[in-house]
Amino acid sequence: MRILAEAPEHKANRPMPRRSGARWSLGCKAVLGLVTLPAFLLGSCKMSGPVVPMPPSESGADLFAAHCAACHGSTGAGEGPARIALEVRPRDFRTESFRYVSTMNYTPTQADLVQTIRSGRRHGDMPAHPQLTDQEVVLLAAYIHEIARLGLVERLTKDFADDPTTTLEEINEIAGERLTPDEIIVVPELAAGFRPNTSVGRELYVAACASCHGPTGRGDGLEKPEDEHGNPIAVRDLTLGAFRGGTSPKELFKRIRCGIPGTPMPSQYGLTDEEIWELVYYSRFLAGMR
Ligand code: HEC
Ligand code: HEC
Repeated sequence: MRILAEAPEHKANRPMPRRSGARWSLGCKAVLGLVTLPAFLLGSCKMSGPVVPMPPSESGADLFAAHCAACHGSTGAGEGPARIALEVRPRDFRTESFRYVSTMNYTPTQADLVQTIRSGRRHGDMPAHPQLTDQEVVLLAAYIHEIARLGLVERLTKDFADDPTTTLEEINEIAGERLTPDEIIVVPELAAGFRPNTSVGRELYVAACASCHGPTGRGDGLEKPEDEHGNPIAVRDLTLGAFRGGTSPKELFKRIRCGIPGTPMPSQYGLTDEEIWELVYYSRFLAGMR
């Protein structure tokens, strides 16, 4: 099972075929068998791919109830009772985007979700789960992905309510497509001889980042920033180094290249890999990390 917990190997910046569906077929199968959901909502689940035997005690729903619902709520809408003790609001999987992604279409891969569940999000109030087996983590990732898909189908159904020409099958297809990773970013190796240059980093930072993060990185650049639902959200104070996606250069590379979906933090298509590396090291420099 270990292989399922590793990041998939793809060439950097090579677009993935759209609507492959295979990545999530295991998850759909798991969720299909174990959760009582209206069958019509599951129309776009593809049933191909590897089948891993799953005793009922390991169902994604049971695991979620046991390990996650206290914070994320029994339906995954982020309203669990333990949330009141947290500084960071648990994600509502039904209506909010996943933030820690390694794709350019704002969609997590299975490996992204596995990493969040296994290692947690330090500084983000999301605990690590070392006690779970690899299979349990994969089941949970699939279960959460399915919650997100069903939430999207529900919203799209409302959006298309006045349009009788759009069928539920098409809505399922749109939802499935939106939640299928497209262009997966594999962090490139640093070019031989690359040494971060603070003045180059600062120049790039002033051009692309300071409008939000402020001239010195304290998160004081953007007035009244909002998340995807119009709720207030703080622009991160980079000088604190509290990077929730991880402080390693590789993780920062992904955050800066892919952006943080659901928040104002944009993805960066136009910059070269070397420019992203400069920004990675400049962010670490602002945090006193180097
Ligand atoms: C103690 C409370 C708590 C528990 C228990 C918890 N979470 Fe979370 N989780 C959070 C918080 C808070 C966030 C938001 C973190 C952030 O925004 O950085 C989060 C975020 C997430 C995300 C979103 C990652 C992204 O890319 O945006 C996933 C997926 C997730 N949790 C899965 C789980 C699973 C699966 C479990 C159970 C095994 C679980 N969580 C248990 C508090 C919790
Ligand atoms: C339009 C506003 C905006 C711009 C422009 C912007 N950011 Fe952000 N950034 C944010 C917000 C908002 C957050 C906090 C998101 C959250 O709380 O999940 C953030 C978070 C971050 C984080 C923390 C990531 C983590 O793992 O927790 C880093 C690092 C970062 N930004 C670096 C940059 C860099 C480098 C640039 C320029 C290339 C940049 N940002 C441009 C708004 C912005």
